[in-house]
Amino acid sequence: MAPSRRQTALPGLDAHTLSTIVGGLASADPAAFLPAGDCRRWALIASTDAYSAWAIAWPGGTGLGLHDHDGSAAAIRVVTGQLRERFVSGDELTTRWLDAGTQHVLAADHHHEMINVGSVEAISVHVYSPPLRDTTFRDDPEIDLR
Ligand SMILES: [Fe+2]
Repeated sequence: MAPSRRQTALPGLDAHTLSTIVGGLASADPAAFLPAGDCRRWALIASTDAYSAWAIAWPGGTGLGLHDHDGSAAAIRVVTGQLRERFVSGDELTTRWLDAGTQHVLAADHHHEMINVGSVEAISVHVYSPPLRDTTFRDDPEIDLR
């Protein structure tokens, strides 16, 4: 049997704390950390024992296929643009639109897809707790509708 990748040793931050952190980071020009380019790209903008935080740029037509966060809870704030999220809810995929200025807390078992189906680049900030500690973040199925 393959070893479990689930994180069990590190405590996660609560929803209120995650929301406070993601709101603060989103107000501090996270786009300045991002490399230039026309593909989906990201930058680690904060890292502690309790959480890791990433800024992500999503050009129109790019996204990330269904994935989980390896047992980490998360908070997401969309800084600019709009993202379409589809997440597993029971036996179905539920769709919601994440607009600029909105933020959402995701449970540790959240399983979702995120795509920018528009034409304007979106930028978002993601805080994960416990910190993402494997390469799932980079290895999930990339989507490019262009
Ligand atoms: Fe995700």
